[in-house]
Amino acid sequence: MNRSPRRRVLAATLSTAAAVLVAGSAVLLSAGNANAATTLGASAAATGRYFGTAVAAYKLSDTVYSTILDREFDMVTPENEMKWDATEPSQNSFSYTSADQIVSHAQAHSQRVRGHALAWHSQQPGWVSSLSGTALRSAMVNHITNVATHYKGKIYSWDVVNEAFADGTSGARRSSNLQNTGNDWIEVAFQTARAADPAAKLCYNDYNTDGVNAKSTAVYNMVKDFKARGIPIDCVGFQSHINSGSPYTTDYQANLQRFADLGVDVQITELDIAGSGSAQATTYANVVKSCLAVTRCNGLTVWGIRDSDSWRASDTPLLFDSSGNKKAAYDSALAALNGGGTSTTSPTTPTTAPTTAPTTAPTTTPPTGSAGCTATVTLNQWTGGFVATVKITAGSAKINGWTTGVTLPSGAAVTNSWNATASGSSGTVSFTNVSYNGSVNAGASTEFGFQGTGVGPSATPTCTAR
Ligand code: G3I
Repeated sequence: MNRSPRRRVLAATLSTAAAVLVAGSAVLLSAGNANAATTLGASAAATGRYFGTAVAAYKLSDTVYSTILDREFDMVTPENEMKWDATEPSQNSFSYTSADQIVSHAQAHSQRVRGHALAWHSQQPGWVSSLSGTALRSAMVNHITNVATHYKGKIYSWDVVNEAFADGTSGARRSSNLQNTGNDWIEVAFQTARAADPAAKLCYNDYNTDGVNAKSTAVYNMVKDFKARGIPIDCVGFQSHINSGSPYTTDYQANLQRFADLGVDVQITELDIAGSGSAQATTYANVVKSCLAVTRCNGLTVWGIRDSDSWRASDTPLLFDSSGNKKAAYDSALAALNGGGTSTTSPTTPTTAPTTAPTTAPTTTPPTGSAGCTATVTLNQWTGGFVATVKITAGSAKINGWTTGVTLPSGAAVTNSWNATASGSSGTVSFTNVSYNGSVNAGASTEFGFQGTGVGPSATPTCTAR
């Protein structure tokens, strides 16, 4: 059985000005994003988040499809190509052609990748159905090890286990061949994934868990238990397939927040909302705003691009119509992203969505000398490498750009970064904002990240504002 490597989380904070340090305080950080952008990905990035979509490899040659994909989205999830039936059609014989095509496309367009899904009762290849007991358990471990190793270093987060809980009020595990191998199959899956790719965030992903209900509480209790016992879990995915049978509820944000309070990130992973017009648009905005209001909500992924790409096409649940035109839901989601910020107001927020983006940036001039920023680093460290997430927080005045200097220990090197431009790769590395995240309102924050080899930084970074 695999053991997870030791994982250290370090934090360091430095203030370079007489800035007001707001992290963790119960204040409304920003009412609007002065750096409102015009695409979903850029607008989400300005809040330190991503906006992704499910992608089908065979559609990449459709230019309407790929044009929207590359214009709007900065995260992709292979819709079917990384599933067990696609990647291991016969035992111990792996097939990555279609999934590799999506990963290559993503890398060529500065998009990150959510891996989906390593262990799931559905979309298993036929040979798996004939296994049980230790043979099936070993096959699962071998599958996870091979697939996560193949994509090591290329995956932002993995849906390690998908849909393992039953619907309804029982709070029980779903009965499945994997469950029949023993109740510890989920933790073994997470330990195996961590050993294979320590840089990827490891998520549990499910549907009908989008409010406080018996199923989401069962997942909550599992995550709480995993955290208590040191089982490596970093995030929980909320699929959010929303329709009349599974509606958006006013405790959506509170549900995300209670998971975040356990010490995991949360992600909206397969969003689609049945309907049309203003009702659909309002629900999209509500979901976006719920994510923005939860600091540990990393981002949102919609489950397809055009309505015609959806697994539920007749519900017209996506942001673009079948011709690729933006729908009201698109405008509403974008406006919500641009009006977003970080709020620590009441977690039970049923809100009415704004239907237009803020049109004016703050017009007050910051008092001379009060600008400044702080930088906080959080590390996911393992033997031989690390991922650093750096949070830049503006002081008591709006800033229009930032540069942070992060000093790496001897032997460490930056291998890639996102949402910032790096100068240098070892010693003290400077990271400067990119076009969409330089402008940060007073007290608001933005995040960027980098991956490296060796030991991650423990010294406090500098932060210089413009
Ligand atoms: O590729 C074959 C094609 O060769 C064949 O002609 C055709 C005939 O039906 O089937 C094609 O495969 C289909 C595949 O989608 C690709 O389009 C499968 O039958 C079909 O079952 C499969 O459906 C996928 C479904 O998962 C399977 O469970 C959907 O695309 C995909 O959107 C959906 O995604 C799931 C998430 O993984 C987990 N959460 C729920 C979500 C929605 O069901």
